[in-house]
Amino acid sequence: MDPANPPHPMGTESAPWWTSAVVYQVYPRSFQDCDGDGIGDLGGVLQRLDHLADLGVDVLWLSPVYPSPQADNGYDISDYEGIDPLFGTQAQLDELIAALHGRGMRLVMDLVVNHTSDEHPWFVESRSSPSSPKRDWYWWRPPRGRFAAGTPGAEPTNWQSAFSGPAWTLDEASGEYYLHLFTRKQPDLNWENPEVRQAIYAMMRRWLDRGVDGFRMDVINMISKDVADDGHLHDGPPIPGTGLGDGSASYICGPRIHEFLQEMHREVFSGRDAALLTVGEMPGVTIEQAKLFTDPARAEVDMVFQFEHVNLDQGSSKWDVRPLRLRNLKASFGRWQAGLADVGWNSLYWDNHDQPRAVSRFGDDSPAFRRDSATCLATLLHLHRGTPYVYQGEELGMANFPFASVDEFRDVESVNHFGAAMVAGQDPTAVLAAMRRMSRDNARTPVQWDASPSAGFTTGTSWLPVNPDHVEWNAAAQRDDPTSVLAHYRRLIALRHENPVVALGDFAMLLPEHEHVYAFTRTLDSQVLLVVCNVGATPYELSALLPRANGATLLLGNLPDAAATLRPWEARVLQLS
Ligand code: GLC
Repeated sequence: MDPANPPHPMGTESAPWWTSAVVYQVYPRSFQDCDGDGIGDLGGVLQRLDHLADLGVDVLWLSPVYPSPQADNGYDISDYEGIDPLFGTQAQLDELIAALHGRGMRLVMDLVVNHTSDEHPWFVESRSSPSSPKRDWYWWRPPRGRFAAGTPGAEPTNWQSAFSGPAWTLDEASGEYYLHLFTRKQPDLNWENPEVRQAIYAMMRRWLDRGVDGFRMDVINMISKDVADDGHLHDGPPIPGTGLGDGSASYICGPRIHEFLQEMHREVFSGRDAALLTVGEMPGVTIEQAKLFTDPARAEVDMVFQFEHVNLDQGSSKWDVRPLRLRNLKASFGRWQAGLADVGWNSLYWDNHDQPRAVSRFGDDSPAFRRDSATCLATLLHLHRGTPYVYQGEELGMANFPFASVDEFRDVESVNHFGAAMVAGQDPTAVLAAMRRMSRDNARTPVQWDASPSAGFTTGTSWLPVNPDHVEWNAAAQRDDPTSVLAHYRRLIALRHENPVVALGDFAMLLPEHEHVYAFTRTLDSQVLLVVCNVGATPYELSALLPRANGATLLLGNLPDAAATLRPWEARVLQLS
């Protein structure tokens, strides 16, 4: 613990600034292009800061803009210290920091340190020879047992990578394999090596010295691998139909993860201005683990992104799409709210650059209900306890893209999945149907600024097509419309800023078994809010469901003229006392 920054109890006086903050995520490639090459850039972000200020968000999280071969759209970094010319210049980044600070907003950068690009000089050097001083900066292993290098099954473990195929690639020159939990162009760094850790911490300190206000840490709970004393890594249980195994038990919240994050905190964050924000992206994290990661007394990270709620509509994999049952969502969110009630802190999100659009996925994007379901889902999420994250375009009710053929997908995860599914003999129509619903490209189509042919995103040809629905669904059409999705997000953000009960109030779930109505209270001292959301098209008599709603004051609703009936996709925030 850092004596200069003692942990904060979450009381109204002492709660950290980010408990009442809302973060806006910019995926720069798809946000705004200012030079006509069809790819968004920093100049474009600078042009659109009024949109963020108008929305009222407190923090901008910028997905990676570092030099990168773009195998995974910048999550494959070849230089941690620079800016990719595709996105702009170092001077523009400094300009962005100053412009945000000038408007009272903060900048959180993406930190991708589980892996680098295979074109990062560290990996180039590591690969150059088994005796390279940087060989041990990555995970190099000989072929398994008596297998000849390159033969099927010779990989050092049976792990499947996150983007299909084995997590090991053979380097022909040395006859050894390197580990990559993601694409083969994203070799995993070896955090066991203290030199690696010190190099990363030094890089982080330089970004903070330059004025950035924190980091969103990419798959940070995967940096510690369970490695035996003799260097051996363990096979995981087989994944049917792939010939590969699930290695996650060896790298999700591995044995040294807390030690590494505490060390990072000491080396990078302690003793600095308290107005920083750290959020760890943590697939597979449990509530118990999240509590440890976010307990201020342990000094690891401020909050984590957990994945439980975005896995509820999936079976054996993300492509095995199932309908969401509302009671499962309640059970999950309810557990997380309760689990982090006294110690730790939640992040709240529906959308990001890896998830399909929430209005299409959990709402109803048909013309009749698109606006109402987008605002209903937003209300439900933003009234929970935790820091809400808004992903670009979510505040406009942007929906999934009508992909018609496999050639339209760009994301490496989707492209690889289609290839692997064809090799495995799956039905292409069914595979395409699942991709249309779940592909990350749904989140990555350009932000819809106006009704012009390129939606105001570019003067050139956009790298992913603009959704044809932009003629109706765009920022220009919504900006001055008090009934728009955008206006509703503005109100939700203001409500959190103005009402400590939204930020800090205790959470209690109501009607846990109800299949369509999601209701809860938030309580702080003598103030009680009742939040009621109709997650579907069936109307309900509100007083029959929740007699307490009678006579309550409407603080915020998504439909005009609150009536006795809770209408389809209606959401209300009521003040009980
Ligand atoms: C994270 C990122 C995702 C990326 C992966 C590998 O999950 O959000 O976009 O592909 O890590 O870096």
